[in-house]
Amino acid sequence: MIPDKAPKEDVFHGSEDMKKSAHVPSFEKYKELYLKSIENPGEFWGDIAKDFFWKTKHTGRVFDYNFDVTKGEIFIKCMEGASTNICYNLLDYNIHERNLGDKVAFYWEGNEPGDELTVTYRELLRRVCQFANVLKSQGVKKGDRVSIYMPMVIELVVAMLGCARIGAVHSIVFAGFSAESLCERIMDSQCSLLITADGFYRGDKLINLKLLADEALRKCRDKGFPLEKCIMLKHLSKEEETSVGSQSPPAKRPCPDLQVPWNPEVDLCWHSLLREASDECEPEWCESEDPLFILYTSGSTGKPKGVLHTISGYMLYTATTFKMVFDHQPDDIYWCTADIGWITGHSYITYGPLASGATSVLFEGLPTYPDVGRMWEIVDKYRVTKFYTAPTAIRLLTKYGNEPVQKYKRESLKVLGTVGEPINPEAWQWYYSVVGDSRCPIVDTYWQTETGGHVLTPLPAATPLKPGSSTFPFFGVVPAILNESGEELEGPSEGYLVFKQPWPGLMRTVYGNHQRFETTYFKKFPGYYITGDGCRRDKDGYYWITGRIDDMLNVSGHLLSTAEVESALVEHESVAEAAVVGRPHPIKGESLYCFVTLNEGVTYNHTLEAELKKQVREKIGAIATPDYIQNAPGLPKTRSGKIMRRVLRKIACDEQELGDISTLADSSVVEQLFQNRCCTGV
Ligand code: PRX
Repeated sequence: MIPDKAPKEDVFHGSEDMKKSAHVPSFEKYKELYLKSIENPGEFWGDIAKDFFWKTKHTGRVFDYNFDVTKGEIFIKCMEGASTNICYNLLDYNIHERNLGDKVAFYWEGNEPGDELTVTYRELLRRVCQFANVLKSQGVKKGDRVSIYMPMVIELVVAMLGCARIGAVHSIVFAGFSAESLCERIMDSQCSLLITADGFYRGDKLINLKLLADEALRKCRDKGFPLEKCIMLKHLSKEEETSVGSQSPPAKRPCPDLQVPWNPEVDLCWHSLLREASDECEPEWCESEDPLFILYTSGSTGKPKGVLHTISGYMLYTATTFKMVFDHQPDDIYWCTADIGWITGHSYITYGPLASGATSVLFEGLPTYPDVGRMWEIVDKYRVTKFYTAPTAIRLLTKYGNEPVQKYKRESLKVLGTVGEPINPEAWQWYYSVVGDSRCPIVDTYWQTETGGHVLTPLPAATPLKPGSSTFPFFGVVPAILNESGEELEGPSEGYLVFKQPWPGLMRTVYGNHQRFETTYFKKFPGYYITGDGCRRDKDGYYWITGRIDDMLNVSGHLLSTAEVESALVEHESVAEAAVVGRPHPIKGESLYCFVTLNEGVTYNHTLEAELKKQVREKIGAIATPDYIQNAPGLPKTRSGKIMRRVLRKIACDEQELGDISTLADSSVVEQLFQNRCCTGV
């Protein structure tokens, strides 16, 4: 339960200044709203829904659900029977009802300093309508799935909102994923169109995205799924002249060498299509529970899950969390450094901020390019007030000391945020005292692709902060901690983090596999949504995420399934068996430590190691590249043949204290693995 009074000791308090105008100015106010939100969710979300446009009113309850598998199928419904359009709410409604047409929606900052573009709400609407017409001209209809594989450019937002405007379902695949991963996702959701770009730079590195997209389409074709249409944006090799008005300016770093393969049977040019398209497009009025998007997240079986979010609940939840958690004010300049290819970019670059009429920075580049001061240079350039990033980025930058930060003023900053993984107290302190000059509260937001938006989070003017804790639940969210037998633990305790009732932004299903949805999230403890995270509650009621308790790793804030990496390794002809575990890493949080058992007669050497790393990169993407690969002639197994990962984790960390290993079939294997550790001394 939330305490009546916030603790006074060991905590950091929000700025007094902020409290004057904050949406939630005190802990008492938070508690009052929180109680209302969980006692009467229908009334709470119904009041919030009044700020949005509904073509027709809801006919069912504002909020309805079954959260207990033993009582029937799991379902969650919000504003049932109402019709709306999320793109209309984000753009048209803000322009016409709130007069935001001339307000800047995005300041786009390219990879190269000086590469920039400003887009107002009106201009964004014009572009989205035009692109929505392009989609229609290609036969895309309501309910069709569209795959998007693009860099961080304005056109990515245009493509996703173009889909939303006509009721098509976008499935964005992070541009760092491999061709194989893209193919798998296109096929799973049976997409009828792919939208991509020629290429982009990540820092100094040129990524030829079209080559990867083509390879993915080739793989799809080979597997019997011919996708016939691919729209390509020229990002690096821009069109000189178009009749569509203010295109993005030519990239400062043109790319004469970029080889862009072109297949006239399949490929369509973004710019040519736009020239033909009208910039007016009536929105498609959709049902509240119609799908909005699919976003794939790692699953512990190795096969990614297509997390499906629906329109109204996601809209209400991302808008409300954005407004409250960043305490959004009309003159804010907000910057979330995530990539739109992940859920953070969906919810807190596109949907939440635009629903609130916010002005955001959209950044294409890296925090370390061209130098490690880039983030703070951008903060000063646009006078960013609310800044949201990942602990891994903070840890990376602490390495370079305070000077690159203090070279810039950062006086505009008011709230700092983190997301994606637990933040260690040292990184928290550095972020607070150096980046925020001890003035700015840090909102450590805990959530998941599945939850749609923040679920455990401080509110910057209301919640006293403890470094490393995501503090308390957001409105509508009821957490509990369970022990192995599924009993709820009271007071200070540690165990499985679960939620007892849904909130509007929770996922609705796994695309095409409702049974997997129920099994993964609701089966182990009937009546609860299971997060897969371990959690501790302290004496003051604060929640502390302790990390994943399934076979999932969190590398630089991104979840990876050990099973997926293992299956990529065993696909190599030399590998008989593989086991992957996490090893703590000072910047990435966790790194991948892989044990491989080779086939008879194969010898382990550097060439094979490089091949295996390449194999994983090509199968999944660069984020999954193993940090360590160890030759393991034998793996520690129980007599029934189950690999004891607990033992492998200890070996990876060189921790000799193994606990009880009496169930091991052959304990001599362990000694051998310790002797052959591939990173002795690291
Ligand atoms: O383990 C938790 C961790 O990231 C997981 C969700 O990953 P994903 O679906 O990729 O979404 C990441 C962005 C929302 C969670 O199950 N996680 C996320 N935020 C935090 C966190 N762990 C600790 N503290 C956080 N603030």
